[in-house]
Amino acid sequence: MPLSPLGGSLVNRIADAARRKVLEQEATALTPVTLTARAESDLELIAVGALSPLTGFMTQAQVESVSRTLHLPLANGTSVPFSIPITLSVDEATAVKVAAGDKVALRDAKGRLRAVLTVTEKWKRDLNVEIPAVYGTNEDAHPGVALLRKEGTFLLAGPVEVTDANPEPEFAEYRLTPAQTRAAFEAKKWSTITAFQTRNPIHRAHEYLTKVALEMTDGLLIHPVVGETKSDDIPADVRLGCYKALLDGYYNPDRVMLSVLPLAMRYAGPREAVLHAIIRRNYGATHFIVGRDHAGVGNYYGTYDAQLIFDKLDPAAIGIVPLKFEHTFWCKKSGAMASPKTTNSAPEDRVALSGTKVRDMLRAGQRPPVEFTRPEVADILIKWAQSLPA
Ligand code: ADX
Repeated sequence: MPLSPLGGSLVNRIADAARRKVLEQEATALTPVTLTARAESDLELIAVGALSPLTGFMTQAQVESVSRTLHLPLANGTSVPFSIPITLSVDEATAVKVAAGDKVALRDAKGRLRAVLTVTEKWKRDLNVEIPAVYGTNEDAHPGVALLRKEGTFLLAGPVEVTDANPEPEFAEYRLTPAQTRAAFEAKKWSTITAFQTRNPIHRAHEYLTKVALEMTDGLLIHPVVGETKSDDIPADVRLGCYKALLDGYYNPDRVMLSVLPLAMRYAGPREAVLHAIIRRNYGATHFIVGRDHAGVGNYYGTYDAQLIFDKLDPAAIGIVPLKFEHTFWCKKSGAMASPKTTNSAPEDRVALSGTKVRDMLRAGQRPPVEFTRPEVADILIKWAQSLPA
């Protein structure tokens, strides 16, 4: 059985056809709010229940509690673990037009209506609390911090009624909602499911983690993020080609599902690992892989901080079980994938390649060693790397 959603039930904020007509009519007279790419992703996730128990954008008390205590207070006086504020920012010019109790029309960059938000609160955000608490740094060089600083300085909270979760869903065939993954797990009779988060092509280390996890659970959900990522991350369409090639060649199709997650990366390391886990619980997973420097960037987080943060949470409250892996690599001495936990080999016996080195090889048309990347994946990446401007 898939795990119950966080908060107990799966949220669905998509308006039915009749309600949608009413909202579309109503929206013509409402103040428009243009969604950022990140807010568009968050809205889609709220709509389908991937961020259950959220029914909309967080209130000030929720933002503060999530930032300070890693918990989201609920209307019934209880709370659930939650690690990153999910907020809707507006600039001052929009903020002055809106008061609590109003409705606003949430529109995408092309002006299309996506949802109507009933504003329960409007306030000036305090990034001095949120940024260090969530990102563990104040530095603008951190891509997640930089993005927050670019956003409007006012926040609007309240429930959303979604008229169109996504008019142009990328990878529609692979974009399953939580209701759909849950139904698929039930149909397959999987009672334990490991979810795997990634923003990269699946290299041998990733493959190892997923297969070790699959030895212990009934099924595996490969669940790459396809929302906004850093400009130097590999584009989602290239990655999807890599995932398909890898699954075709090296996985048991009866035990693996591939679905994309329209979440924007925050690069918040430990805090993001918890958010990633909660979201996968909502999709029905029971276990979640957390390896080295999960969702990290640069040197902002310790190698295993994203594992240690789970020790601060009540395992029963978060529900999904983190599967913690040490830094894995191909060990020449053992002739197998290994980690410091499983091999006594010397550093020179370990195949370790930096991201820069791999990129240089791909651009030069060279496959990285097979101990690092499967050739089918390497060939897709070479084609992509060579198509980039010099
Ligand atoms: S992430 O931003 O999505 O975390 P990435 O796609 O590189 O980045 O990682 C996906 C998952 O694999 C994360 O849990 C990460 O910690 C883990 N991981 C990546 N490479 C390794 C490795 N060599 N050893 C152990 N875990 C790894």
